[in-house]
Amino acid sequence: MELNPFSYEFQEDPYPTYRWLRDHAPLYRNEKMDFWALSRFRDVLAGLVDWQTYSSAEGIVLERLDPRMLEMTPMMIFMDPPRHDRLRKLVSRAFTPRRVAGLEPFVRETAVQLLDPLAARGGGDFVKDFSTPLPMDVIFTLLGVPHADRRQLREWMDTSLDRDPDTPALPSRAIEAMMHSMRYWFDLLAELRRHPNDGLICALFDAEIEGDEGGTTRLSDGEIVGFCSLLGAAGNETTTKLLANAAVLFARHPGDYGTVRADPGRIPGAIEEILRYTSPAQYAARTVTRDVEWHGQTVPKGDRVLFLIGAANRDEREFPDPDRFDIGREVPTQLGFGQGIHFCLGASLARLESRVALEEFVQRFPAYAVDEARCRRVHMSNVHGYESVPFVRT
Ligand code: HEM
Repeated sequence: MELNPFSYEFQEDPYPTYRWLRDHAPLYRNEKMDFWALSRFRDVLAGLVDWQTYSSAEGIVLERLDPRMLEMTPMMIFMDPPRHDRLRKLVSRAFTPRRVAGLEPFVRETAVQLLDPLAARGGGDFVKDFSTPLPMDVIFTLLGVPHADRRQLREWMDTSLDRDPDTPALPSRAIEAMMHSMRYWFDLLAELRRHPNDGLICALFDAEIEGDEGGTTRLSDGEIVGFCSLLGAAGNETTTKLLANAAVLFARHPGDYGTVRADPGRIPGAIEEILRYTSPAQYAARTVTRDVEWHGQTVPKGDRVLFLIGAANRDEREFPDPDRFDIGREVPTQLGFGQGIHFCLGASLARLESRVALEEFVQRFPAYAVDEARCRRVHMSNVHGYESVPFVRT
C-alpha cells in the first residue's frame, strides 16, 4: 500500500489507505517521495501541539515551496515562535469569537443574496454558485479587496493550489497564478496607501510589531502581502470545501437533513461531524528538529512528517464506528482546524459562515438531490473537496 497525496485515485477515496496505515504502518515511510506519515489520532494530536520538535518553517505541505517567495512574502503559518506568535497576535484581534459574531448579519445577507436566485432556479452548482462566493465575499470584504477584482483573484488562488497527478512538482500554471496574485496584492497595497479604506489591510499599515532586537517596527509590504495571501487562501479554500461536503453528505443522508431542517439548533453539531468525517485540510506537514522515536523507529532530524488529520479523524481508537456519519456524535477534540499554536485562526469565522449558510439553505431547499456522477473534485495537495456539485430541488 502506498500513500501518495498527489494520486487522483487516492484523493477520490483516501479512507481505505488511511485505515491500512493506522493498522499496519502507524509510522509510515515513503522512500520515493522522502517523507514519513503518522495517522493515528493520538499521534497526530501529539505532533501538532509539539512545535519545538515539529517545525513549520519549511512549509506545511509536502511539496517544497520556493524559499525566495517565502522570504519575500513571509506567512505565519510557515513560521515557528517567536516570530509566529508576534504576527499572530497582530491579526488575532480581528478573529476573536466576539468580533466574528458581529459579522453574522453581513454573512447572512451575503448568503441570502446568493441563495435567492438559486432557489428561484430550483438548483444550480452548489460550489460555483454558493460555497465559493460566500467565503470569498466575506474574507475579501474583511481585507478590503475591491469587488471588481475578487473573482480573478480567487481564480488565481485556486489555480496556485492545483496539482498534477502523482507528482509534488508545482505545475507551471500554479507558479504563474501565484506570481499574478502576488503582483496583484503588491499593487493593491500601493493603491490603498494612496486611497485607504476601512479594511484589515489598511489597519495593518499602522500596526506595530516587536522587532528581533527589541523595540517596535512597522510591517513591511511583503509581510502584509503574506497576511493577505494567507488569509485569502485559508479563508476561501477550506470553508468552500466544508460546505460542499455538507451538501453532498446531507443529500446522501436525507434523514439527517430532515433533522437539521426541523431543528436548525442541530446545525453546529452537524458541522463538527462533517469536519471530522471529511476534513477539508487532510494533513499538515512538519520538519523534524531532532531525532524522534515513533512505533519503534527513528525519524531523523531534518526529515519531513505528514500529520494525517483526515486519517486521525477516522481512527476507531478515538471514535466509535468512525466511518458512520452521525450528526449527533460528540467530537470532543476537533482536529479539523489543527491544534496547538497554529490552530486555525479563522475557526470561529468558518463555523459562523457554515452555520449561517446551512440555516439559509435548509429554508430554501426542503429536499434536494446531488448529481454525484457529475461532481468533480479539486486536486490540491492537502485540501480535499469538490470544485463542482450540481444539485436540484426535489
Ligand atoms: C472549514 C474551514 C477551515 C478549515 C478546515 C481550516 C483548517 C485549518 C488548519 C488545519 C490549520 C492548521 C495548519 C497547520 O497546523 O499547519 C489552519 C490554520 C489557519 N487558518 Fe484555517 N481553516 C478553515 C477556515 C479558515 C478561515 C475562514 C480563515 C480566515 C481567517 C482561516 C485562517 C487560518 C490561518 C491564518 C491559519 C494559520 C494560523 C497560524 O499559523 O497560527 N482558516 N486552518
